[in-house]
Amino acid sequence: MVTRLMNWFDDRLPLTATIERHLTKYPAPINMNIWYLAGVLLVVVLVIQLASGIWLLMNYEPTAEGAFASIQYIMRDVEYGYIIRYMHTTGASAFFALIYLHMFRGMMYGSYQKPRELLWVLGWITYVLLCALGFTGYVLPWGQMSFWAAQVIMSLFGSIPYIGEDLLTWIRGDYLISGITLNRLFAFHVVLLPLALIAVVFVHILALHEVGSNNPDGVDVKKYKDEDGVPLDTKPFFPYDVMHDLYAIGVFLIFFVTIMFFYPDGGGYVIEYVNYEAADNLKTPEHIVPSWYYTPFYAMLRAVTFPLFGLSAKFLGFVVMAAGIAIFVALPWLDRSPVKSIKYKGVYSKFFLALFVVSFFVLGYLGTVTSTPGRTIAAQIFTVTYFAYFFLMPIYSKYEKCKPVPERVQLG
Ligand code: HEM
Repeated sequence: MVTRLMNWFDDRLPLTATIERHLTKYPAPINMNIWYLAGVLLVVVLVIQLASGIWLLMNYEPTAEGAFASIQYIMRDVEYGYIIRYMHTTGASAFFALIYLHMFRGMMYGSYQKPRELLWVLGWITYVLLCALGFTGYVLPWGQMSFWAAQVIMSLFGSIPYIGEDLLTWIRGDYLISGITLNRLFAFHVVLLPLALIAVVFVHILALHEVGSNNPDGVDVKKYKDEDGVPLDTKPFFPYDVMHDLYAIGVFLIFFVTIMFFYPDGGGYVIEYVNYEAADNLKTPEHIVPSWYYTPFYAMLRAVTFPLFGLSAKFLGFVVMAAGIAIFVALPWLDRSPVKSIKYKGVYSKFFLALFVVSFFVLGYLGTVTSTPGRTIAAQIFTVTYFAYFFLMPIYSKYEKCKPVPERVQLG
């Protein structure tokens, strides 16, 4: 019966072949490690966000008058509303934590190098979409931080020479941030951006399955195949990786629900305390900070304190901040190393990757605290070291001495 049903489908749509190619028989390298779990966990979080988002939407009101109250209503009166909301707020932070781990894995193992450039670019697009989703979503509760974060970020567009002011009015849809602005951010957050994210993630995974997974050794597993043409250093995705991934999903969900039920504010990082107050355009909070996942870039924005060539410090800060996010997309073309994995790269690659990590964390911290002259200097120094990893890469990756790469993957 099942075979006949499958045959019926297969005659009309290559169902079995697609499942085998993309799931059950996908040849995954045998030496994949814990870093390879972030991808599947990102898919899990994407599903969590879509499901919890749809439920939130059933009771949320996208108006300046009703938004804040509708969140209170969800928290207090809607059955299990608080769980659904905390699921969505925890999911937002988990999404970013995982995407940073996922990107870092790619940077460590040179997963952006040929032939995976397009895979990397598609991944980077998902990151940009996620940044936009995070920002638009943050405005929706219409709390104090929602309002003022929107004010700070949107005003950056106003700093663009010549067109800034008009562009800003156009983006806001009003002369100041209002219900009209909230409405358009709402439309982006619930329709355009999720649709785009789902589409790009889909193509990201298709692209991955076209070129195949990289691995911690960065060797080409397709080089040696058995008599059936199956790469020797791979295993079928089912049952091996499926079991492995299910275990990881279980462990991840334990962490996830622990935060969701016991520490939903995450010490003010998952939900900021100032956002428990309703938006008030006459009262600026003492200390405006973005969500933790944007703080490295916020620190870069504040690090630029001087005008240059007639351009304002604010505009230049905006450019540096945007460049901090954009520069990742150039990695496949900046890396000139003959080897992929950091395991076999030379000492300079290791040094600059470590410097990048330190800079990212220090900037992340600096973005959460009020600026002082000392902290501004620190932010300037670490902004330079952050970019040094990227801009010096064509030089150090080309001329450093690498270790010999083995022919086949190494286990243990
Ligand atoms: C919603 C966001 C994303 C989802 C759902 C996602 C999903 C996945 C999945 C399921 C895999 C295969 C499993 C794995 O290798 O971990 C993967 C691989 C990969 N992803 Fe993503 N990804 C996302 C974002 C990104 C971003 C932002 C980048 C980089 C800028 C990226 C770059 C890559 C690369 C290079 C691989 C192949 C890695 C290798 O084979 O070593 N992805 N992704």
